[in-house]
Order: sequence, then C-alpha cells, then structure tokens
Amino acid sequence: MLILGIESSCDETAASVIKDCRDIRSSVISTQIEEHKKYGGVVPEIASRRHCENILGVVKKALYDADITADDLDGVAVTYAPGLIGALLVGVSFAKALAMSAGKPLIPVHHIAGHIATNYLTYPDLEPPYLCLVASGGHSHIIEVISYTKFRVIGRTRDDAAGECFDKCARAMGFPYPGGVHIDNAAKIGDPGAFKLPHPAVAGNEFDFSFSGLKTSVINMLHNAEQKGAEINKNDLAASLQGTIAEILTDHTIRAAQSLGYKKIALAGGVSANTGVRAALSSACQKHGFECYMPEKSLCGDNGAMIACQGSYNLLAGIIADESLNAAATLSIEDI
Ligand code: KG4
Ligand code: ZN
Repeated sequence: MLILGIESSCDETAASVIKDCRDIRSSVISTQIEEHKKYGGVVPEIASRRHCENILGVVKKALYDADITADDLDGVAVTYAPGLIGALLVGVSFAKALAMSAGKPLIPVHHIAGHIATNYLTYPDLEPPYLCLVASGGHSHIIEVISYTKFRVIGRTRDDAAGECFDKCARAMGFPYPGGVHIDNAAKIGDPGAFKLPHPAVAGNEFDFSFSGLKTSVINMLHNAEQKGAEINKNDLAASLQGTIAEILTDHTIRAAQSLGYKKIALAGGVSANTGVRAALSSACQKHGFECYMPEKSLCGDNGAMIACQGSYNLLAGIIADESLNAAATLSIEDI
C-alpha cells in the first residue's frame, strides 16, 4: 500500500510517500522559517502564498524520490485541520485535485493525529493503546490513543501551548523565531536552578495545563531587569524555563498515566525535539516503570511522513473523504 501525505497547516510545505504504513519511501519538506523570521512569527497570508508556489514541486519531488507516479498510489492523505485556514486550504485543494484526477481515495488527516503517528515511524512494533503527550507550537494535549484512529483528550492547555511559551519567552530574550530551539541550545550551558519560576495551578481538570502565567513571569523578569539596568544571564534563564516546562509536562503526563492505568507513554509534536523535555519524560518513565516512546528528532517538526503514516491507518479504517472535504482552522481530535 503506497500513500502520499501532504502537509501545509503552518509554515512547512511537505509531502512524503509511505509504503505499508511505516516505511518512508520519500520525505520532502520546504520550510518558510527564514521568511517569517523577519516578522517574529508566522504571517498567515505569506504562508498561504508560499504553499501555493511550493506545493507542486514538493509533491512531484516526493513521488520522484519514491520512484513512483500518482498512478501507483493507493491514496492521497492531507492535513485538513487544525491550522491556519488559508495554509490548510492549499494542501486540501491540491490533494483533492490530485486524488480526483488520478482516481484515488482522498484521506483526511487531523494534524495532531499525524504528530502522534511519528512514533509508529520510529518504533516499528508500537501499537495502541497508549497515552501520548503532544506538545507543539499550537497544542499541549495529553491524549489517550485508544486505537490508530480513536482518540480521547485527557488534558489540554487552557491558554498558551508549551511551544508558544518557549517561542514568546525566547523572543523577549532576543532570540529569533522560532525560539524553542534557541532556548534548548542556551539551556545546555545554563543553570536550571538559577531562577525559581511558577508552576501555574489550574482549577478543575488536574491534567490541564496553563503556560501563560509562566510566560508572563519570564517576560516581567526581563522587563524589570532592563528597567533597572541589571543583567540577566540568558543561559540560566533558558535552562530554568526549559526545566520548568519539562517538569510541568512530565508531571501531568505521569499522573494521567498512573490514574488511567497506561503502561506506555509516548511524546509527539514540535516540542518533542526539546532535549530537556525528552530527558525529563524518559527519566520519569524509567523511575515509575513506564515504557517511553519518542519520535526520532527528524520527525518532531511538521512533515509529510506523519500525514502519510496516519493516512494509511485512516484508509485501513475506511476513513476517506469526497470532493466536499473542507479545511478547518480548529477541530478537536475527538471529533474526527
Ligand atoms: O509541531 P510544530 O512543528 O508545529 C505546530 O504544529 O505547532 O511545532 C513547532 C513548535 C514551535 O513552538 C517550536 O519553537 C517548537 O515546536 N520547538 C521546540 C524545539 N524545536 C521545535 N521547542 C523547544 N525545544 C526545541 N528543541
Ligand atoms: Zn505540528
């Protein structure tokens, strides 16, 4: 079974061909980061335009690298939600046209389900059920992966996502967009105990997250120091922030796994590339006796392989769409 996956929900135009669910035959990613960097974040209008310009070349290269043509495909999978609406529409329209003209099934894929699937590409034997922490620029979720295509959200952020907290604090510290990776690098030479940062409490669901208080406290600390003409050691602040985010994410996930009786814990999303988050989750899993799964670093950010992989499982479950498929900026993974 050969599936083409197309991803265009944010600032990466990506396409990949996967054979038999988990074998990556090609993966092409065209990133727009350099262009959005000038503005300190993703400019939706520019993102849509670049997707329009790049998508044909990216898909052609994915087919060429896999040494196949569209006729050889068993389906065309595409991210249809959630994300930037204009950006999503480029991928959805392209996938529809390709699927219809080649006479292949069109397979809708939820972006977060795609991130979760990166674990299948990294661990050939991993099967549901398990609990997955998904932390990216737009989401921080603890998700029960009941089957390949059924999900239940156990905890979610009430405000900012973990990646957003990394990026906004990084920006206040003078790092370029996207700042998460710069915090990660600076943290390697910083002291994580240098600053005591708040662990925001959330009333109600004990597994929900809140990162806006942490973000505000870092930004206020930087502003106060600036007003007083005081120097803040950025490496120490980066290490303290990363340590705090890693602790919050790990603590909630371990408690959720204990309370629901899961033995396997997985990590996914752009923030799963973070050294501190990976180390904290893997050592907590070891301490508490959980099996720990995390995607290969090259699969953590947005890519087409995760969409092709999840698309393969969707097709096997009979989840296909027709020409009426539309993109959605917001859509819970529980409602797919
Ligand atoms: O999954 P993703 O590529 O896009 C969304 O679906 O949002 O995630 C992007 C997020 C950004 O916030 C980025 O700063 C963060 O992942 N990120 C990191 C690292 N690499 C990417 N955050 C912390 N440390 C990293 N090494
Ligand atoms: Zn993503």
